[in-house]
Amino acid sequence: MAGALALALTAGSALTGAARAETTLQLGHPTAATSHYGVAASTLADELSRRSNGKFKVVSTPNGAEREMIESAQIGTLDLVVTSTGPVGNFVPEVAVVDIPFLFKDYDHARAVLDGPIGQDMLKLFPDKGIVALAWGENGFRHITNSKRPINDPADAKGLKVRTMENQVHMTAFRQLGVLPTPMAFTEVFTALQQGTVDGQENPIPVITASKFAQVQKYLTLTGHVYSPAMILMARSTFDGLTAEEQQMFRDSAAVAAKAMREKVAAVESNGVDELRKAGMEVITDVDRTKFQQALEPAYAEYSKRFGKENIDRIRNYT
Ligand code: PAF
Repeated sequence: MAGALALALTAGSALTGAARAETTLQLGHPTAATSHYGVAASTLADELSRRSNGKFKVVSTPNGAEREMIESAQIGTLDLVVTSTGPVGNFVPEVAVVDIPFLFKDYDHARAVLDGPIGQDMLKLFPDKGIVALAWGENGFRHITNSKRPINDPADAKGLKVRTMENQVHMTAFRQLGVLPTPMAFTEVFTALQQGTVDGQENPIPVITASKFAQVQKYLTLTGHVYSPAMILMARSTFDGLTAEEQQMFRDSAAVAAKAMREKVAAVESNGVDELRKAGMEVITDVDRTKFQQALEPAYAEYSKRFGKENIDRIRNYT
């Protein structure tokens, strides 16, 4: 049952033989059950079940639209969501600073910022919006795929119609590169690529592999143009119905799930590109990222106005 805690009296475990209340929670995530999001979902379910001796049962639904799932959590019709930050800035605007291209140097830098005071302070902004942010997970560094031509430098991207997330920070950057950004829910992307409604899309390797984009895209350029964080979110109405001890159990379980998600991202990063090559993609690895950053200068001026240069620099220079 979606929504606030669904309570059902079930037969007790074989161990106790006693009847106990089982609470079923609905979780939504955006990609296949086998993806890094699926790993986060199943780890969260296992941890909660184990820590609560079977009291909390999480039922996961894959392939959901991120924005709609967050809205559902906000109004309390979905208990848990694992999502990228793609649409999160539409709910908590300050968080969109993490979506700035070339902000994070590498995975270690991104994880340190999100797990440190900057990222943890951001989590505190969510309850006012009806959502509790339990932990930062990971989607990964995003790369561009397309069906038209190899992208070796920014000029090659000009004129391409590229599906982006519904994220103003990303769209500003793509417009600056002369790309026509076409925001749409991820659930529609495979068909849009197949039918040629858009020429390309951009996503991390674990998404490109899990979504079988090699079937509909010829070229992959390892731009790593932006780090895409993920988050484990919970309906505040559901969270508020828990005891303090249970709330801590959810936070601790989410931390374990986020760690498992990052490990899955790292595992797919290590063999995903080879897999995509084998599936027929032409992979452009020699990318001059400085050229992309230079092309984005005017976009950075806009980001500074929106988020404050000092806030951006604090993330960029965090060690
Ligand atoms: O491109 C997106 O919308 C996101 O990266 C995805 C695939 C839904 C995962 O968060």
